[in-house]
Amino acid sequence: MAFSTGVTILLGLFSTCVFAIPYNTFDGVGFPACHNVSTIYHPASVDEMVSIVQQAAGSNTPVRASGKGHMWYDTMCSDDNNTIVIQTEGINGISGFSLGSAEGSVTIEAGVTFFELAEYLHERGASIGYALVNWNMTIAGAVAMGAHRSSLREASMVAAGAMEIHIIDGTGTIRQIVRNETDDDWLAASTSLGLLGPIARIKFKIYPDFKLYAQQNILEEADVLNSEICGLIAPYATANLWWWPYLRKFHQRYYDVVPTNLSSQQGFQSTFSITEVEAITARTLLDSGKILATSNMLSETIFYGIWSAPNFHEKTNDSTISDWPVYGWDYDVLIGGLYPGMLPEWDYNLRGYTLELAVPVTLANKLLNRIRALFDAETAKGIIMTSTYRSGINIKFGRPYNDLLGQVWSINNTDGADWSKGAIMFDFPSFRPTWGDNLRFNEPFYHNLATTLINEFPCRPHWTKNTRDVLKQSVKNLDSVHLQRFAAVRAKFDPKGIFKSVVGEIIGVM
Ligand SMILES: Cc1cc2nc3c(=O)[nH]c(=O)nc-3n(C[C@H](O)[C@H](O)[C@H](O)COP(=O)(O)OP(=O)(O)OC[C@H]3O[C@@H](n4cnc5c(N)ncnc54)[C@H](O)[C@@H]3O)c2cc1C
Ligand SMILES: *[C@@H]1O[C@H](CO)[C@@H](O)[C@H](O)[C@H]1NC(C)=O
Ligand SMILES: *[C@@H]1O[C@H](CO)[C@@H](O)[C@H](O)[C@H]1NC(C)=O
Ligand SMILES: *[C@@H]1O[C@H](CO)[C@@H](O)[C@H](O)[C@H]1NC(C)=O
Ligand SMILES: *[C@@H]1O[C@H](CO)[C@@H](O)[C@H](O)[C@H]1NC(C)=O
Ligand SMILES: *[C@@H]1O[C@H](CO)[C@@H](O)[C@H](O)[C@H]1NC(C)=O
Ligand SMILES: *[C@@H]1O[C@H](CO)[C@@H](O)[C@H](O)[C@H]1NC(C)=O
Ligand SMILES: *[C@@H]1O[C@H](CO)[C@@H](O)[C@H](O)[C@H]1NC(C)=O
Repeated sequence: MAFSTGVTILLGLFSTCVFAIPYNTFDGVGFPACHNVSTIYHPASVDEMVSIVQQAAGSNTPVRASGKGHMWYDTMCSDDNNTIVIQTEGINGISGFSLGSAEGSVTIEAGVTFFELAEYLHERGASIGYALVNWNMTIAGAVAMGAHRSSLREASMVAAGAMEIHIIDGTGTIRQIVRNETDDDWLAASTSLGLLGPIARIKFKIYPDFKLYAQQNILEEADVLNSEICGLIAPYATANLWWWPYLRKFHQRYYDVVPTNLSSQQGFQSTFSITEVEAITARTLLDSGKILATSNMLSETIFYGIWSAPNFHEKTNDSTISDWPVYGWDYDVLIGGLYPGMLPEWDYNLRGYTLELAVPVTLANKLLNRIRALFDAETAKGIIMTSTYRSGINIKFGRPYNDLLGQVWSINNTDGADWSKGAIMFDFPSFRPTWGDNLRFNEPFYHNLATTLINEFPCRPHWTKNTRDVLKQSVKNLDSVHLQRFAAVRAKFDPKGIFKSVVGEIIGVM
């Protein structure tokens, strides 16, 4: 076979490799997803990935798959220095396309990213609906970690689009797990945290392509905190809030379907594109905000102003779109990507910390008011806190979706909370100063906020947006029956625990 020479050379490293290397997140050098791994493989096919897992199984070597490293903290692997990483970028086949009048399916391999699939589908008049997250990450990585968009009306867990998940188990055998909500194998595979083994392929649900509008309103903070928050979100196909705590404002963003012939505009969204001048200005200001509250107040004011205008360009000629609503094709409007000639903010050394916790949406007002009280408590001490991120604090929502470890399951809870109406997610990114100890202005505030919410609310953590410390604190809120059921499936798939990770160790399913 064509790949066998490459595999032999690669596998030769198993016995000889003694050097040690960090495996980094999308933020690059200095931002390890895994502190010290022995080898990083770049297989070009599913067969090659299977061979690597078989070799690892034979020598009891820990293995993790990785897509684009679009995660924030050092929680991808375990801390075992023998770990190998299988980088899936080169395994990106798309096959089995079939589309009927209402829906269809397609099979993707581990390394296929959202924008690769979106482009493939758009050329064929199809789309993946609302099961979307950021552009440059793999669908398999998003499914593995329970990633989601924001909607109470439509299914918005990426995993909700999966019809079959094919996982390479701890013997190096591909198991095809078919959607079946009474089967624990499926309920575990749906948000597997990579602990059942690398996802090799996913059969994914698709829909005929459609057009959407995007609209945005500005709301007073007091009106949101005291309103029926569901009513701002639930009517729309997808919707979210962005919070500007210093200015006491929210942006309400929402999207819904329009007839294809309503407008010829082809809006293309970008959340992270930035010019070099913008980047240097923002970084200078935010860096001074490490010690000066006034810089952060100015930053939030500038970011809020920029964010009030559409963050969309016309796709056909890259001109700026200045008026709401914006119209365009589903993927372009909901996600988009990079504008030509620009880079994402992290490529200009604008990096963030983050925190994301989900709470039943029935507690939405209580949650946001509690956070407001924490901001106010700082103000009372003479310390003004702000958002330090260019899109503010992201408040997302999730319709219930049942699996064992997702953030929005609603059946058989042991926490006594009512998740049946869905969840609100508090997603709090913040600027990471580039100098000194890299800690934020009033750093203890962030830790106190996390601990307070975890202790006072039935919070479920996002699996790639929280530190080890936040995950540890969150364990007490997880459903012990779900953890046991997941652990039982994991033991079947991976009896020797070669797919272990820090997350799996913290939640006690290894
Ligand atoms: C800028 C940005 C925006 C984001 N936006 C959102 C958002 O809107 N909503 C949301 O929920 N999340 C969001 N995320 C988080 C993101 O969805 C997840 O971290 C996702 O897992 C990243 O996918 P990846 O391909 O980059 O995986 P990686 O970062 O490479 O891996 C993440 C984890 O998944 C595991 N994994 C990866 N591939 C596989 C595989 N084939 N089989 C088994 N396990 C695998 C890895 O071992 C690791 O534990 C965002 C992240 C970034 C950086
Ligand atoms: C990994 O290597 C470091 C440095 O030698 C060592 O301190 C650490 O204990 C090792 N970790 C494991 C789990 O072996
Ligand atoms: C990585 O692990 C190896 C093997 O345990 C160890 O020799 C090395 O010191 C570690 N390196 C770091 C930076 O921890
Ligand atoms: C996607 O990420 C890779 C790094 O993994 C980077 O080289 C590439 O430029 C990114 N592409 C886009 C369109 O963001
Ligand atoms: C779904 O899973 C259950 C439990 O494993 C099994 O009894 C049932 O036959 C499965 N249904 C289908 C359609 O395969
Ligand atoms: C769009 O198409 C529908 C159905 O073909 C038609 O009834 C409608 O008039 C069209 N609208 C516009 C604005 O052209
Ligand atoms: C770009 O295209 C849009 C839509 O076709 C058009 O309205 C606009 O005038 C164009 N702008 C430029 C600068 O060409
Ligand atoms: C909920 O619990 C009941 C009773 O224990 C069980 O039969 C059912 O399968 C569970 N449902 C899910 C989705 O876990």
